[in-house]
Amino acid sequence: MTPAPCQNLLHEIPEPGIHLITVSRPRALNALDTRTLEELAGAIAAVEQDGDARALLITGAGEKAFVAGADIAQMQALTPEAARAFSLRATRLFLRIEALPVPVIALVNGYALGGGCELALACDWIVAADNAVFGQPEVNLGIPPGFGGTQRLPRRIAPGKALELLFTGRHVKADEAVAIGLANEKVAGTELRARGLALAQVVAARGPLAVRAVKQAWRRGQGLPLEAACEVESDLFALAFATADQKEGMQAFLDKRAPRFTAR
Ligand code: CAA
Repeated sequence: MTPAPCQNLLHEIPEPGIHLITVSRPRALNALDTRTLEELAGAIAAVEQDGDARALLITGAGEKAFVAGADIAQMQALTPEAARAFSLRATRLFLRIEALPVPVIALVNGYALGGGCELALACDWIVAADNAVFGQPEVNLGIPPGFGGTQRLPRRIAPGKALELLFTGRHVKADEAVAIGLANEKVAGTELRARGLALAQVVAARGPLAVRAVKQAWRRGQGLPLEAACEVESDLFALAFATADQKEGMQAFLDKRAPRFTAR
């Protein structure tokens, strides 16, 4: 597939099965306005429709920002009704990002504030460049987060720490982000894209249906009592035994060779 051209983002497939979306609105540090959200929704739809997708990487253009938040200039004059619609537009999109069947990795270069931090939190995991700065500074603007921050941050890191960050709006640099479990790792800014691609390659080399099953088990199990959640896992485990990939993966192990998965 060939991604559609956009004004405020770049959607590439740098290697088979690996999608890379770069939010690119340099004059506003990649802040999310309605147009950018629309373009992002289009790119996500393309990933949803790509049955050969193995992983998605999301990053920001330039060195200074991943995404500096929702667009404050656009939000300033919103009525409560319009603010609700704006919040719901992004919230629904972020839920779709979270629900993608393949792993989604945020490559955070520079500022990931407000809606930018929330976009990263909608991803399965976060790799931080050494200049990454996370935060939910909405309280400085007289508003609470509106793209899921009050819900996802306390689910991703310790709730007390999340509430501290949400109440104070303070910035969190890369080392602290790793220490509190917000980011998985810190890499040099110059290495960020290469590291993201390397991680995506690792995931892409695994059994594609198995990787999807892991994500599905985790998502479907969330919110269920442990017993019911483990039953979801057992069902997906059982389904795997109807796949060619299970037969190939186990035979390859016994033959002491690398598996050749076919996603069937
Ligand atoms: N929306 C719109 N424009 C933004 C923006 C945003 N979120 N963040 C930065 N910009 C614009 C600035 O207005 C500036 O534009 P001009 O050159 O036209 O003046 C340009 O980007 C560069 O920004 P700065 O000059 O401010 O750069 P800096 O290096 O001095 O500071 C910064 C960088 C700390 C990220 C600072 O820009 C900043 O604090 N930005 C706002 C961060 C923020 O509050 N984000 C949360 C938004 S609310 C939200 O996201 C709600 C939600 O949950 C959905």
